[in-house]
Amino acid sequence: MSAPEWTVPPAVVGESETREDLGELEVELLLEAVYRRYGFDFREYAPASLKRRLWRRMTAEGVSTLTQLQDRLLHEPAAMERLLLDLSINVTSMFRDPSFYAAFRQHVVPSLHTYPFTRIWCAGCSTGEEVYSLAILLQEEGLYDRTRIYATDINEQVLATALAGVFPLEKMKQYTQNYIRGGGTREFSEYYVAAYDGARFSRSLTENVVFAQHNLASDRSFNQFNVILCRNVMIYFDKTLQDRVHGLFHESLDMFGVLALGHKESVAFTPYADDYEVVDAAERIYRKIK
Ligand SMILES: C[S@@+](CC[C@H](N)C(=O)[O-])C[C@H]1O[C@@H](n2cnc3c(N)ncnc32)[C@H](O)[C@@H]1O
Repeated sequence: MSAPEWTVPPAVVGESETREDLGELEVELLLEAVYRRYGFDFREYAPASLKRRLWRRMTAEGVSTLTQLQDRLLHEPAAMERLLLDLSINVTSMFRDPSFYAAFRQHVVPSLHTYPFTRIWCAGCSTGEEVYSLAILLQEEGLYDRTRIYATDINEQVLATALAGVFPLEKMKQYTQNYIRGGGTREFSEYYVAAYDGARFSRSLTENVVFAQHNLASDRSFNQFNVILCRNVMIYFDKTLQDRVHGLFHESLDMFGVLALGHKESVAFTPYADDYEVVDAAERIYRKIK
């Protein structure tokens, strides 16, 4: 993490707080301080969930005011790492929402066969289950060898897990069911070996994957893509940040490229709504046409 470059805003002296009365101003100041000290920008995250997570971190750190939390975050990078984990909600699973993968096979795969080479950006990939699922799907569809997947997340710790490719064995039953419901036709167990530390997924699944840290809130576009996948990430952002990220995706997508958001998110009501046509309405899969 980088050293402070700017001065940090003054801390607000407060009495012991409860979750309900975490003041807007104190929250704003803390987020501003974190941004200036570390470059992590949570200033446009949805306020209710942000307050809940800050409150949880205050309790876990044993501090009773936001001012104390701010102080600790600024002086202890390890505390910042812990907050980062709280704020970046990493829940994920393999073939999560299987109908999404079925729709991807049906509506997106045929157009990918028309390209000699495909670049896919999986933004907010968390611990990588989504990336491994996509790699499996692409292998089965005969596309993996001519695809590069760029898998990014704000959180380096989850990326390290993604790279290791070892997932809890007890989840394999659920993942096998998801895989089948997502259109998988082989034995799911072909893709991993059961080891003492969990299910170790085949290294061939990450041969064409680049894992990298990228912050959707502040980093720029880094390539042009045929497909961008970003599911269950923007729900944590406020409208301004969602629009920024949509701008980033629009700029990063080739013409006729595919934006796959999953059923919780949409391009409707963003400044880019008219620039896409719907490929699958339920799974919120779009094609860029402008
Ligand atoms: C709920 S997980 C979604 C994982 C996966 N896409 C899925 O649908 O299963 C959200 C991920 O978004 C990441 N994230 C949150 N804010 C981010 C940001 N500003 N830039 C990049 N990734 C971010 C989190 O670290 C987390 O890993």
